[in-house]
Amino acid sequence: MKQPIKGFSKLTKQAKIEWLVNHYAGDPTSSMEMLSGYWHNQPEVQKLHDEFIENTISNYYMPFGVAPNFLINGKLYAIPLAIEESSVVAAAAKAANFWLERGGFSAKVLSMVKVGHVHFIWEGKNVDALYRIFAENQHRFFENTESITKNMRARGGGVMGLDLKDKTDLETGYFQIEARFETCDSMGANFINSCLESFAQTLKDLVAEHANELGDAPLQVVMSILSNFTPECLVRADVRCKISEIEEGSGIDNQEFADKFCRAIRIASVEPYRAVTHNKGIMNGIDSVIIATGNDFRATEACAHAFAAKDGRYTSLTHAAIEGDEFHFWIELPLSLGTVGGITNLHPMVRFAHELLGYPSAGELMEITAVAGLAQNFSAVRSLITSGIQKGHMKMHLLNILNQLEATDQEKELVVAHFKDKVVSHSAAVEAFLRVRGTGAVGN
Ligand code: MEV
Repeated sequence: MKQPIKGFSKLTKQAKIEWLVNHYAGDPTSSMEMLSGYWHNQPEVQKLHDEFIENTISNYYMPFGVAPNFLINGKLYAIPLAIEESSVVAAAAKAANFWLERGGFSAKVLSMVKVGHVHFIWEGKNVDALYRIFAENQHRFFENTESITKNMRARGGGVMGLDLKDKTDLETGYFQIEARFETCDSMGANFINSCLESFAQTLKDLVAEHANELGDAPLQVVMSILSNFTPECLVRADVRCKISEIEEGSGIDNQEFADKFCRAIRIASVEPYRAVTHNKGIMNGIDSVIIATGNDFRATEACAHAFAAKDGRYTSLTHAAIEGDEFHFWIELPLSLGTVGGITNLHPMVRFAHELLGYPSAGELMEITAVAGLAQNFSAVRSLITSGIQKGHMKMHLLNILNQLEATDQEKELVVAHFKDKVVSHSAAVEAFLRVRGTGAVGN
């Protein structure tokens, strides 16, 4: 039976690896070689990666791809995408080219407000006094965070407002200080959490100072934390073109394509089973940009899905309409992103992603990311309502199948050429590969 280990984090990297492979790997020597094979060949770069987290033993590679030809607000971008799913970059690039010829994407940040809360319990009777004391002493909350907010204020951000919220209908004695923040180009998590912890202390001081009016009900600060639900950190991206200009190439009539596309979006709007898959496809694009640019995809995912369910039913993040003779397709969602801080300036690939995008502001990155989500959804729905998804998907997956079969470069070339005008299935790919391996040609 495996034994737990104490003080693992204190071991050297080498000792950690040795302990791990000796306890958990079937072949310790080859596991050790594999792990060290993924280390960066420049020790200082490896050290940087080691220090991102605790207990780093190696690096986890993920393809870093790029989808060029994205015309957004009249500016051309090559969008970096870090993702393991074979068809995502191809789908993004296809949508970029399609819309490049039809005026490109437009995108707009609607607002960049972020929120955080001091969640506290106070079961006193004089709630009016609590509200009055909070209102009369708002300046104390601001004054006590001045040193934390100084730099952010100089950049045009900071604490935008504070509200006391009575949540006693949800939990006995539950109140919140809800704070609104602008964090400029940074994601701002540390800034927000530091402010909130200071607000919690100010609240404690105020309640203690006003014990005469508030009575002796104890105050319990349960937690002070930002919310990853940022429905006011909103961005919108659009595409539109004349229906007569759709000509999307699969042979389907333009009007039929537009109608069917809008119907597919309506189905995703009303049917949560479809909406989840639909939005997952959108997040293929969004997460890829977020990972490539060193942002927090877990926060973005959590927020996007909460937003998709904000009206009580999980629904589509994209919308489509036929407006007169035009096809209009758009996305509106919250994206709380940063272009400074975190690992944005540390991770060499992340730095390169920002360079590729022309060192965007956080707002610009929100726009680019929303466009990547919209593009991804366009390509997915376009395939779904015309050829079906598997044709393109399996074509992109073919190399994974061949790599699993340990095909040589020459064998891959022959099999890929064979499937140029055929639908790929796993079994057909294996058969074609075996024919090549056996005879040196695919045959039929
Ligand atoms: C696959 O990763 C994403 C899709 O399923 C999205 C969709 O169905 O819209 C193709």
